[in-house]
Formats: sequence, C-alpha cells, structure tokens
Amino acid sequence: MAQGKKILLSGIQPSGRPHIGNYFGAMKQFVEMQRDHDCFFMIADYHALNTIQDAGALQKGIIDLAIDYLAVGLDPKKSVIFKQSDVSEHTELAWIFDAITTMPFLARAHAFKDAEAKNKEISVGLFNYPMLMAADILLYDTDIVPVGADQKQHVEITRDTAEKFNRIFGKTFNLPEAKILPTVAVVPGIDGRKMSKSYGNTVPLFAEDEEIEKLVMSIVTDSSGGIPKNVYEIHKLFRSEDDLASLYQSKEGKYKELKEKLTHDIKAFIRPLRERRKAIANDTDAVRNILKDGGTRAKEKASAKMEEVREKVGVKLY
Ligand code: ADP
Ligand code: TRP
Repeated sequence: MAQGKKILLSGIQPSGRPHIGNYFGAMKQFVEMQRDHDCFFMIADYHALNTIQDAGALQKGIIDLAIDYLAVGLDPKKSVIFKQSDVSEHTELAWIFDAITTMPFLARAHAFKDAEAKNKEISVGLFNYPMLMAADILLYDTDIVPVGADQKQHVEITRDTAEKFNRIFGKTFNLPEAKILPTVAVVPGIDGRKMSKSYGNTVPLFAEDEEIEKLVMSIVTDSSGGIPKNVYEIHKLFRSEDDLASLYQSKEGKYKELKEKLTHDIKAFIRPLRERRKAIANDTDAVRNILKDGGTRAKEKASAKMEEVREKVGVKLY
C-alpha cells in the first residue's frame, strides 16, 4: 500500500439484500474513494450473528455481500476486501474495550435504546455492538469511515473509546472521522420512513425489472401537494434536481406518470449492475479466494496493532 494515503475502513452486515439506500448512503462512496485512499472494506459477519443464528443463512449472506461489493465496483487489486471473523483481533480488542467502558455509556447508544423501546430481547452482543465496531475501525489506524447518517453515533463512540484508551494507556489509537454525504444521508423507503432491511421498505440494489415496477407503484404518496415527496426524494438519486424541477412541474399531481418515469430511471440504473452481479456470482470459488486473500492482508495489519495494544495494557510478557 502506498505511503501517505489516508486509511479508510467501512463495513456492512451480511444481513440481506442491499438496497439503494445502502448504495447511495455508503457503497457509492466506497467505490469512489478507492482511488486515493488505502481502503479496507469489511463484511461485518460477527455483528450479523446477533440477528442471524442460522449457519446456512449466514454463510450465504457473506458470499452474497462479497458478490455485491465486487458488483458495485470494489476492486480487490486496489482495496482489501475481507470478513471480520477472519481477523480474530477484532473480537480480542473488543474485549479490551469492554473492560474500559461503562454500562451507562453504552446504554446511550441509539440502536440499544430503540431495541429497548420496542421491548425486544437484547443480547449482550447487541448491547456491546459499538465496542466491536470500535475495534473494527481502530485496529487499522483508520482516518475515515464512510457511512450513512445512522452510523454517526457509532463513530463518535469509537472516537470516545480511542480517547479513553489513549488516556489510560498512552497514545495508541488514531481518532477516525465519519464521512457522511449530506445529500443522501437518509434515503427514504417506499413507505417514507428510512429505507432499511429491517422495515421491509426497500428497493433492492440488484432488483429485477418486475420487482422495481411493483415497488415503485407502491411508494406511499401524500396528496397534500402536487409533488409526491417520497417519489421525488428517491428520484433525486437518479436525476439532477434541475431535470426533476421541470419534470415535476409539468406533471404536477400526475403521480402515476411520475412513478412510471421513476421506474424507468431506476431500471436503467440497476440493469448493468444486476448483469455484472450475475456474472460474478457464476464463480463463487473466485469470490471465496478474494475474501481469503483479503483476510490474510487485513490480519497482517491488525495483528501488528494488537501486539502494541497487548504491550500497552500489560499482558505481553514475551
Ligand atoms: P439497513 O438499515 O438496511 O439494515 P445497514 O445497517 O446494513 O442497513 O447499513 C449499511 C450501510 O448503509 C451503513 O453505512 C448505513 O448508514 C447505510 N444506510 C442504510 N440505510 C440507509 C438509508 N436509508 N439512507 C442512507 N444510508 C443508509
Ligand atoms: N454498524 C454498521 C452497520 O450496521 C456495520 C459496521 C460494522 C461498520 N463495523 C463497521 C461500519 C466499521 C463502518 C465501520 O451498517
């Protein structure tokens, strides 16, 4: 890897089909930033274990996400593409962070508070989620973490954890910055809430044409103004606001026609991505090899950092 480039790390959980919110909020930036950063793109499989407790499903999710990464343009020649569980230093460092972090601090995390408010059963792993994410980021001396707005707090927790460790044991970790694109910070779903796999309101990134037609037609429109907000907000991802201004003016109140136009634009955007994905999915052995190689490269960097951490905390004797 070249000297002097900033280090970038990001990850996605292998927990279902990625959607256009994931793409415009996170993945698109990954692809663009490969050129001038040293990049690590991770499959957060141990994070996903909190919700997916079925070996076959997790295995499939991992391979699928690796294929998705490659299909959108992540390039194993430029970047390290790996899965979290291949680098055991992530869980090891998370334990050390657990030891220096208090329960009330983690109880302030939005993800935990949301789950609690919904009376969900909360595993210790879910409560601890931000510690594992802090380890993911800090092991690589990461400068930049490109994510969607919903991950902002996790990056803040990561910074706080790095500062706390540095204060107790001496300067060890770099403080990373989140990189959030303000224009697409929150892509709305077809029901107007944040697009999310867990709400079942997504337009999958590699959707088939028919699926796109159905989903767009079911976008919830409010009838208060001439411009259907949810349709417009999604359309904005595929066309410039100048283009859209004249289109939405000339079709004011004609929701069906506007949806047809949006369907057309989404299809044109997705088709080449979907075809690329199908080609990559034909050779899953090659995909496995890319992950395996990425794991080896990530491990090299993480294990050197972990040696330093073990020494700092006092467990390293030889
Ligand atoms: P989901 O909520 O669908 O499960 P993830 O939590 O797996 O999505 O998110 C993966 C990445 O995509 C994260 O960086 C997240 O911030 C981003 N992301 C997810 N949903 C959206 C959205 N609706 N708008 C913008 N970015 C998003
Ligand atoms: N928490 C992120 C999400 O749900 C996934 C993730 C895990 C991640 N580790 C990370 C993102 C490290 C950025 C950096 O989307």
